[in-house]
Amino acid sequence: MDLSGKHIVLGLTGGIACYKAAELCRALIKQGATVQVVMTEAAAQFITPVTMQALSNRPVFDSQWDARERNNMPHINLSREADAILIAPCSADFIAKLLHGRADDLLSLMCLARPIDSVPLLIAPAMNREMWAHPATQRNLAQLQADGATLLGVGSGFQACGETGDGRMLEPQELLEDVIAFFQPKVLAGQRVVVSAGPTFEAIDPVRGITNLSSGKMGFAIARAAREAGADVTLVAGPVSQPTPRGVQRVDVRSAKNMHAALVEYAQAATIFVATAAVADWRPAQASDQKIKKDGSGNAPVLSFVENVDILSEIAHSPRATSGELFCVGFAAESHDLLAHATAKRARKGVPLLVGNIGPATFGQDDNALLLVDAHGAQELPHNSKLALARQLVAEIAKRQRAAH
Ligand code: CTP
Repeated sequence: MDLSGKHIVLGLTGGIACYKAAELCRALIKQGATVQVVMTEAAAQFITPVTMQALSNRPVFDSQWDARERNNMPHINLSREADAILIAPCSADFIAKLLHGRADDLLSLMCLARPIDSVPLLIAPAMNREMWAHPATQRNLAQLQADGATLLGVGSGFQACGETGDGRMLEPQELLEDVIAFFQPKVLAGQRVVVSAGPTFEAIDPVRGITNLSSGKMGFAIARAAREAGADVTLVAGPVSQPTPRGVQRVDVRSAKNMHAALVEYAQAATIFVATAAVADWRPAQASDQKIKKDGSGNAPVLSFVENVDILSEIAHSPRATSGELFCVGFAAESHDLLAHATAKRARKGVPLLVGNIGPATFGQDDNALLLVDAHGAQELPHNSKLALARQLVAEIAKRQRAAH
């Protein structure tokens, strides 16, 4: 569970998005966090403390005059035990209040009293689009960030008031991903990472083609982990049905040729390239413009193939890669003799780090095991979920990239 051991104070302020805070509370707990809910008087107009108590399994705090606390100082006690304070929803009024350091209710008092260096404040705003766009709100948010708060952004779309635009609170699952990402070490801060993922599709005719069983899960997990680690991430994906990780720029491609063009373009500005895509080695020499029909003779058409360009090898041998500006990581999906094949492939592709895995055992699965082969030898990352492995791999890549500089 991604939030095991984390204690989150979830603050609710007045806004219709309070209904989403109920689901957020559940989602945080499902990922292993303990959640202490603190509500303003306005929040209690939208959702009852009873609901939030039932979901968090803890009494809700809503007053700075709470005799349940021995010292009658809930603002001190609650903030000292938190790993983070998350205000979701955070109203325009509450943002203004935080900005001025006002402290006339428990939640604002607690935010002001929090140890600023050890208890981060995360803000999930929720308001009407005009309130969001107002210079006062934007000015306040800029200053709040300058004061050390983390702004989680807003969604766009239909609003409870009937208008459409920016200012909706992010969905509970999006906020959950952001909170999980917040706690990951920022080992790739400032890096620009390009990841290739999924299979490619090589057309035979307008309705048929050749592809493979790659699900893209490992590449998508690496893109997510790199983003969580603070990198700016572009994910070049073949035809897969995976959801795009939060904050990742996704570029969809189909054939190896499309993937090649996209990767060459994005690699130009990248500092790290991770090639997880199962690029087709060959494509039909001539894709037919029209659907190939049975001719009734009983004979199948004979296809001839040409080899696709080896994208990883080409990029790994480019001047930016050989000069050390671009750190390239290859993958090898093998069926046997992993170490020997991965070692040979690392040399052939010209990459500093080659990651081997057993292809048939991992395609489409949620877990995997990896073997990292570099100039110093091999290192195993034992069986785990693809996301956990992706996070470990990102840390290993960061270490090696730093050492290579
Ligand atoms: N790769 C690539 N472009 C290709 C083929 C592969 O960028 N045309 C990348 C993959 O993304 C992966 C690595 O190269 O990171 C290994 O791919 P693989 O298909 O296993 O290697 P091959 O060179 O095809 O070796 P073999 O067929 O012998 O396994």
